[in-house]
Amino acid sequence: MNKALSKSVNIFKSTIGKKLLVAITGLMVCLFLVFHLMNNLIIFTGPENFNQLVGALEKIKPLIRIMEILLVIIFFTHIYNSAFLTWSSKRSSSNKYMHLSKTSSTIYSRTMFFSGSVLLIFIVTHLSTIWFNFQNINDHNKYYYFVTESAYGFGNIFITILYLFSMLLLGFHLRHGFESAFKTLGIKNSKFEKIISTISVVFWLFIPLGFFSIAFWFGILDGGKW
Ligand code: HEM
Repeated sequence: MNKALSKSVNIFKSTIGKKLLVAITGLMVCLFLVFHLMNNLIIFTGPENFNQLVGALEKIKPLIRIMEILLVIIFFTHIYNSAFLTWSSKRSSSNKYMHLSKTSSTIYSRTMFFSGSVLLIFIVTHLSTIWFNFQNINDHNKYYYFVTESAYGFGNIFITILYLFSMLLLGFHLRHGFESAFKTLGIKNSKFEKIISTISVVFWLFIPLGFFSIAFWFGILDGGKW
């Protein structure tokens, strides 16, 4: 391996390197969430549009597959490195620096591991129910029904509760995570601080609220049927 390459591989083994990986992959997930929410909000416009949209995505399957593989790598890198950093900071929690950082922490930063763990359970459930079954649906008219009424979607109160609770914790996770990522990248304490704080509201409030509203409308209010 040439020297420059081995140097850059080594940086990702260090704490700061791992923090950088968590920050970059976290922001990539945020970007995915913007597109994912935009696609999913179409569900409010009725079955025809939603089924058509998912059908259109089917037509560009190779591209979607590449994106899904990238997402797996991004999620794995984010989760593995966050878990590693949490574990190593717990191990050194007796040092003075940790006590100092505890006094300036918020409920959002203190619950990052908990919110992240619930979100991991959410993702596994979400993919093994919705995503997995979508691969086997041949009738394009069934996507909307599957998400809004089936036992794998919001026809199941337990799934609905998991979505609602997870979206609350997604808000918690992003309340700390979004701005913290920019801090790690060294951008937070610059002239961009105000802009980042404003954009962060979109991520910790409006995006989780968007997903929450879908689960609440179809899972609790039954799509306005009662
Ligand atoms: C109300 C909430 C949500 C709904 C209704 C929803 C719906 C869907 C649907 C229909 C698919 C399958 C798309 C396809 O195969 O064409 C999907 C896939 C996926 N969802 Fe969600 N989703 C929600 C929230 C989330 C959240 C909060 C995350 C991440 C934290 C997420 C992560 C994913 C991932 C990684 C995939 C697989 C990649 C893809 O096919 O786009 N979803 N979701």
